[in-house]
Amino acid sequence: MSSILVLNGPNLNLLGQRQPEVYGTTTLADVQAACEAHGKNIGYDVAFSQTNFEGGLVEAIHAARGTHDGIVINAGAYTHTSIAIMDAVFSTQVPTVEVHLSNIHAREDFRHTSYLARAAIGQIAGFGLTSYLLGMDALKAHLA
Ligand code: DQA
Repeated sequence: MSSILVLNGPNLNLLGQRQPEVYGTTTLADVQAACEAHGKNIGYDVAFSQTNFEGGLVEAIHAARGTHDGIVINAGAYTHTSIAIMDAVFSTQVPTVEVHLSNIHAREDFRHTSYLARAAIGQIAGFGLTSYLLGMDALKAHLA
């Protein structure tokens, strides 16, 4: 079976308690369960992980090469700051879809910039947990 890595960045471990007015009450465990169930439906194994560390995200992207067919990533705030994560995607060439729970383009100006978007196939933002599932569908369509 084919495999997708769903990677989560900083503060997403606090989903459900963190700014519920922005991110809702869905927990990261809920996101994981939904991604795993959706993976079964579309024929992909799902590996799911979260780290609060920029270097942890870089290493997970490196390790995905040859292990997973693609990555769905919510890099959290590192989206807007991290050249290292963008470079990791460029360097490994693992097909990567950027996702966000919130509509980053409707929020503060500093969230409108995504370094990661330069390396990603595309970006899906604003649909809550569904952004992840749409990201998986988009990755599958890209890989087909
Ligand atoms: C986020 C949006 C980012 O701007 C923010 O820093 C996050 C979450 C989202 O999923 O909406 O941590 O990536």
